[in-house]
Amino acid sequence: MISEQIKEKYVNAGQAHVLAFENELSTDECSLLEKQLSNIDLDLAATLFDKKDEPCSDDLSVEPIPCTVQANLSKEENDKYTAEGVNIMKNGEYAVVTMAGGQGTRLGHKGPKGTFYVNVPESISLFEIQCRRLKKRSEECGRNIPWYIMTSEENDSDTQKFFVENNYFGYAKEDIFFFKQYMLPMLNEEGKLVLEEKYKIKEGADGHGGIFRAMLGRGVIDDMKKRGIKWIFVGGIDNILVQLADPCFLGYISLNGYKLGGKSLIKRDAYEKAGVFCKKGGKPFVIEYTEISPELAELVNDNGEFVYGDAHILCNMFNIEVFEKMGDKGLPYHTAHKKTSYINEKGENITPDKPNAYKYEAFIFDAFTYYDDMGIFRVKREHEFAPIKNKTGEDSPETASKLYIDYISECEGV
Ligand code: UTP
Repeated sequence: MISEQIKEKYVNAGQAHVLAFENELSTDECSLLEKQLSNIDLDLAATLFDKKDEPCSDDLSVEPIPCTVQANLSKEENDKYTAEGVNIMKNGEYAVVTMAGGQGTRLGHKGPKGTFYVNVPESISLFEIQCRRLKKRSEECGRNIPWYIMTSEENDSDTQKFFVENNYFGYAKEDIFFFKQYMLPMLNEEGKLVLEEKYKIKEGADGHGGIFRAMLGRGVIDDMKKRGIKWIFVGGIDNILVQLADPCFLGYISLNGYKLGGKSLIKRDAYEKAGVFCKKGGKPFVIEYTEISPELAELVNDNGEFVYGDAHILCNMFNIEVFEKMGDKGLPYHTAHKKTSYINEKGENITPDKPNAYKYEAFIFDAFTYYDDMGIFRVKREHEFAPIKNKTGEDSPETASKLYIDYISECEGV
């Protein structure tokens, strides 16, 4: 039986339909539903729904943002930044966070995206690729770089199981940590919670921007502080060329007094599916590819270069202070209108043929705008970017493997 107190909360919030099948549920199902009901923030859900039609962008003026092109650095600058970065790593002040809480819908792999194997040409999982790189840098630094992996409610246990089965890829188990991002409920077009099963409300991970809330709320920041960590690299799981412990980038951010930084690369064409860096209202900002106007996307300068051409590739460096500030503050949520199956009032499972519900996600780059400045570090695409998003075609395992193989043969790295 679900407690009267919880029931009352849902009745008062106009969400009583989620209790409709209580009498048909087994004891286990009932306690699963009760647990979920007690965790959902109904006030937040109501606010999200009310704000769904508000445009994310506003009238603030957009202008280009300066960036540092790594290829144009002198040898002295390069060496200076690298030495600083290595020093920070050797002092144990550096940690890496891999965001692996996404659903990987487009790839369609069954299981967490990090458990997907690519042929490069050996068959290796995305998690192991990142681990090898960290291992190499750790050996160079004479100490293990702590590795934090953000999972979601949906994939946490499969992710942890994969690490156990693979003996943590030879990395010290005590230097790998998992933490779950939070979930947000999906809402239908009337603002009602969606039943996925008679005992389960449909929820989704709260987007990669959920990292700030999760790191603070799950105790990761406290743990990092105890370890003396000052700098945190955050990257995604699906870029198999991510340089997750790049001392030059770290030194560049630290020595120039930035609190945060992002790697960029020149977008492939006006409509590459990546956000681009700019300044908006005088603050660093990323315009999502879905939100940029054709005029801005195509705008070129006298040299024929894109004015808004520095793509954000989800490779960001943060001072730990940023996490303390942003974890408290929270980021705005973006709304996506999605097609999702549901249980109707008769208990039937319905698969709609058009979008019928809203999913809410925060984007990590919305944090940039809380700062006056950040370091943008433009790197070489062939050395740092081989994303796996789609099953086939652009940004697929096939294209990424080729880029990876070319990089290994050119740079003899990992
Ligand atoms: P994407 O936005 O490309 O999403 O994530 P995805 O889940 O991998 O794939 P699709 O869109 O469903 O096809 C970029 C990175 O951010 C992480 C992903 O795991 C990936 O590393 N991410 C995304 C999270 O950790 N949590 C989220 O809620 C969303």
